[in-house]
Amino acid sequence: MASRGRAFAAGALFLLLELALQGAAEPPLVPAMFVFGDSLVDVGNNNHLARCNASCRADYPRYGVDHPCHSPTGRFSNGYNLADQLAQLLGFPESPPPLLSLLKARLVPQMSSGGINFASGGAGLLDRTGPRVCGGEVLSMTAQVGNFTSLARRWRRENRTTAADLISRSLFFISVGSNDLFEHIAFPSAPNRNDIRFLQDLVASYTSYIKDLYAAGARKFSVVSPSLVGCCPSQRALAHDPSKGPIGVDKFGCLGAANNLSRQLHPMVADMLQGLSLELPRMNYSLGDAVGMADFVFNSPSTPAYNFTELERACCGSGEFGEGGCNGSAPLCGNRSSYVFWDRFHPTEAASAVTAKELFVDTGLFVRPINVQQLVAPQP
Ligand SMILES: *[C@@H]1O[C@H](CO)[C@@H](O)[C@H](O)[C@H]1NC(C)=O
Ligand SMILES: *[C@@H]1O[C@H](CO)[C@@H](O)[C@H](O)[C@H]1NC(C)=O
Ligand SMILES: *[C@@H]1O[C@H](CO)[C@@H](O)[C@H](O)[C@H]1NC(C)=O
Ligand SMILES: *[C@@H]1O[C@H](CO)[C@@H](O)[C@H](O)[C@H]1NC(C)=O
Ligand SMILES: *[C@@H]1O[C@H](CO)[C@@H](O)[C@H](O)[C@H]1NC(C)=O
Ligand SMILES: *[C@@H]1O[C@H](CO)[C@@H](O)[C@H](O)[C@H]1NC(C)=O
Ligand SMILES: *[C@@H]1O[C@H](CO)[C@@H](O)[C@H](O)[C@H]1NC(C)=O
Ligand SMILES: *[C@@H]1O[C@H](CO)[C@@H](O)[C@H](O)[C@H]1NC(C)=O
Repeated sequence: MASRGRAFAAGALFLLLELALQGAAEPPLVPAMFVFGDSLVDVGNNNHLARCNASCRADYPRYGVDHPCHSPTGRFSNGYNLADQLAQLLGFPESPPPLLSLLKARLVPQMSSGGINFASGGAGLLDRTGPRVCGGEVLSMTAQVGNFTSLARRWRRENRTTAADLISRSLFFISVGSNDLFEHIAFPSAPNRNDIRFLQDLVASYTSYIKDLYAAGARKFSVVSPSLVGCCPSQRALAHDPSKGPIGVDKFGCLGAANNLSRQLHPMVADMLQGLSLELPRMNYSLGDAVGMADFVFNSPSTPAYNFTELERACCGSGEFGEGGCNGSAPLCGNRSSYVFWDRFHPTEAASAVTAKELFVDTGLFVRPINVQQLVAPQP
């Protein structure tokens, strides 16, 4: 009897919570969100690429262990990823669907459906980034942007003014660049490779993607520059490889050469965006400094907003840093919320949530010149 009473009370409470959530439901802050980039924001495009192998897929356990459906979806996370979490802050239930799952279901992507996710794990700013690591195939940024612009052309043919208006009010969210840095370290193309020249090539590519999206009607860009990629468990393991001894380890115990690239790239992306906003009328943007955010978390991991206790090891994977890779037989940590890294390359749901929140509400510390909430505000 008592236990039935408790069950009833719990059920009633659940119902009330659900009603409260429904009551609070408001329309999203933007008509649509379009997502571009790599595995930090891919929600399943790579599941549909025949020549993309397990290195760049997340459609097997233990991915998704904390997702509401408790199964892998293609997100490189234990649960939701950065695209979902930013979408949620905008008032959507999660990221818009991956382009390739719409096409697989023979659905024609509609303009009015809240957006599309074009992102692909392994992709980079350069077209050559991805295939040689992923077994042959990723959706490059060139393909992702081209896929959007061809859809936008179709939408404009269907209804010119509505399409232009909706696209101009939508959010274009881009998170890319880490894989270019990883490959630059892993495959030094020439003995005297020139880092500055390489970073300039990345920024030149970035510029052309943003100009193409602008030409297709995009006006509101939320951009995140690569984080301290040298602190990923995979790169930490390289820096501490016992056969080579600690090499180029920085103050956080990470691969210094990789982190240096991230630190140099951020201000270049900032200058690029500022220049474009002066050149392109009504273009507006919000740039997240993921290097600054990572510095902050590594320096003060026990901040009450997150209380991270494990900054080095991946939650899923064997080896000193979890660099062995995550799969159904890999060791899994107990409390995922206390880990920064989920697998050897990707943050936990708890860590990406910190980034999403910052992008949305930061007041000038790590997000400039305005945050995403300000970016999506209606313009007079
Ligand atoms: C995926 O393909 C790449 C490139 O061919 C290869 O190096 C890697 O080991 C493959 N990964 C898996 C899990 O098969
Ligand atoms: C997306 O881009 C790729 C590469 O350009 C192309 O092969 C594919 O047909 C495009 N898909 C759509 C739906 O536009
Ligand atoms: C275009 O969109 C507007 C606003 O949604 C709608 O009123 C109009 O009927 C549409 N026109 C066509 C041809 O679909
Ligand atoms: C990284 O940059 C710092 C400061 O510019 C420099 O002292 C250090 O040698 C660099 N480390 C590596 C591994 O390139
Ligand atoms: C960018 O957005 C901010 C905040 O909503 C606004 O004050 C500013 O005028 C916008 N800039 C442009 C060029 O639209
Ligand atoms: C972090 O720990 C503090 C103190 O124990 C607690 O009040 C807070 O709720 C915790 N934060 C999270 C995100 O768990
Ligand atoms: C599965 O993960 C474990 C632990 O990281 C690793 O040792 C093993 O090689 C992985 N298996 C495959 C098939 O990749
Ligand atoms: C899990 O970790 C978070 C963050 O460190 C902490 O706030 C929480 O209390 C932990 N939960 C358990 C059950 O230990």
